[in-house]
Amino acid sequence: MSTTMEQSPTTETEFENLAKRVDDAIAAVSSLDETARAVAQEVKDALEAVHRAGLVTIVQRMRADAAARAVLFDLVDDPIVHMLLSLHEIVRPDPMTHANRVLVTVRPQLQSHGGDVTLVRIEDGVAFVRLDGACNGCSMSSVTLRNLVESALVEGVPSITGVEVLPNEPSPTLIPLEALRIGPDPAAEGWVKAGPATGLASNAMTVLSLATQSGEHAEIIVVNVAERLSAYRNECAHEGLPLDNAVLDLDNGTLTCPWHGFCYDAASGECLSAPGAQLEQLPLRVDSGEVWVRVGS
Ligand code: FES
Repeated sequence: MSTTMEQSPTTETEFENLAKRVDDAIAAVSSLDETARAVAQEVKDALEAVHRAGLVTIVQRMRADAAARAVLFDLVDDPIVHMLLSLHEIVRPDPMTHANRVLVTVRPQLQSHGGDVTLVRIEDGVAFVRLDGACNGCSMSSVTLRNLVESALVEGVPSITGVEVLPNEPSPTLIPLEALRIGPDPAAEGWVKAGPATGLASNAMTVLSLATQSGEHAEIIVVNVAERLSAYRNECAHEGLPLDNAVLDLDNGTLTCPWHGFCYDAASGECLSAPGAQLEQLPLRVDSGEVWVRVGS
């Protein structure tokens, strides 16, 4: 059996033509009657499921091979490949970068009124921002500027559904004390034993896969710098990709994501490359030599 390999569309025009073809087909489907629409939807869902399965296999195989991994890193940066992987939720779209791009479009208007905005983080669809200068206060113009920020973010970034304004003084990221308490039934509270503390290599990062009593799974990393332990969810704040091969720099106390180089403070998870981004830190306790990490709520 002979096979031919099609050239992938690389030019912007070719890509736009393909995107238009998809848009036209979707518009045509929406005008069909209900039964025909359901059939068309099923064809679309089935094809997407096949494509996703194939893409997941390709990405997993490439990640497992050192030489192929380098090619995969390059490919993830290609806008078309990135969009395809994002559509199939294989890489998470990057809401922080997206939101910051949207804010760039309103910043001139804010600054022309003596104001400004800083995106601090995005959590559960809510963008937390700090507002400066004329954006603060209760005058009509400050309300207008705040509304401008809110509508730009909600309308411009699909994953943002709300905006909250943080108080202006910067606050460190702290894990609430309550979250660190181990009650009489730790497993029921989401605490999971991660093994003996002596099993976590000194001055190194350990990748662990943990499961709670309720069956919830969590991929985590534990960073051990000079016997100080920090646990994080194994997801880079940039695109949610795993940090398995992150580089721990002991001299600078940093952890660098292998995918696109986001650099984090190893002890706090604060991102040093993109202000406001942060690794999700998990409560960690050492009790009688055993390490406990709270991965569930
Ligand atoms: S996923 Fe892009 S820097 Fe980590």
